[in-house]
Amino acid sequence: MKKWITAVFALTAIVSLVALTPSTISTKSADPREDSLAADRAKYAKEVRAAIAGKEKTNAEEVFKNIKIFKGRPAEQVIGIMENGWSKALGVSCNHCHDVKDWSLDTKGDHAIARDMVAMVGKVNDDLIATMPSYATKERKPRIGCTTCHRGESHPGRPNGARPGGPPRN
Ligand code: HEC
Ligand code: HEC
Repeated sequence: MKKWITAVFALTAIVSLVALTPSTISTKSADPREDSLAADRAKYAKEVRAAIAGKEKTNAEEVFKNIKIFKGRPAEQVIGIMENGWSKALGVSCNHCHDVKDWSLDTKGDHAIARDMVAMVGKVNDDLIATMPSYATKERKPRIGCTTCHRGESHPGRPNGARPGGPPRN
């Protein structure tokens, strides 16, 4: 009888311990690739944060060497956008766009594409959506961002090899 009660107590204790421990399962992403990518991005972001320690609030162009888009933004914000914005939106890690031995190099094709995509997003938001007659009187206008299209994929809109918005290949 005593043994039985002890067993029940032990079981209850284990169950509540498991319930109280932040579950690693529930925080895991639906996409299994995302977890290892997130770890990789965190490693690089930490490396960059360490390198710019003390200059987090300084303008990005004074801290980094090759800033065209983020002029006037605090340096730490750039790292945040890289880690939680662009990389996540595309489902990639930093090395997709960077030669990680020198962050200032823009020799990778995707680095240039990213800058062009930023310009496109700006045009859509500021020129096209801003002048939509149907939204003229509305205070809140829709905005697009990288995730609008990419949704965790570097090649959005190609299900089964289809061209974006076109017929399937072959
Ligand atoms: C989709 C492509 C892309 C991804 C992914 C990406 N970056 Fe960038 N990164 C860029 C572009 C483009 C710039 C230049 C921004 C500008 O012109 O202001 C940049 C700039 C930087 C800079 C400033 C370099 C300098 O010296 O001027 C650092 C540091 C950086 N990225 C770190 C990271 C880290 C860390 C990650 C991953 C967590 C990452 N990036 C992911 C495209 C990317
Ligand atoms: C209107 C939709 C749309 C938006 C918004 C958008 N993209 Fe793209 N992006 C695309 C399409 C389509 C491609 C081409 C994919 C392909 O080659 O299959 C692409 C390709 C890319 C590539 C090249 C990927 C590769 O591996 O070849 C990069 C880098 C990229 N986008 C970055 C960005 C970033 C950063 C943003 C936000 C600033 C952004 N995109 C916003 C539609 C979009």
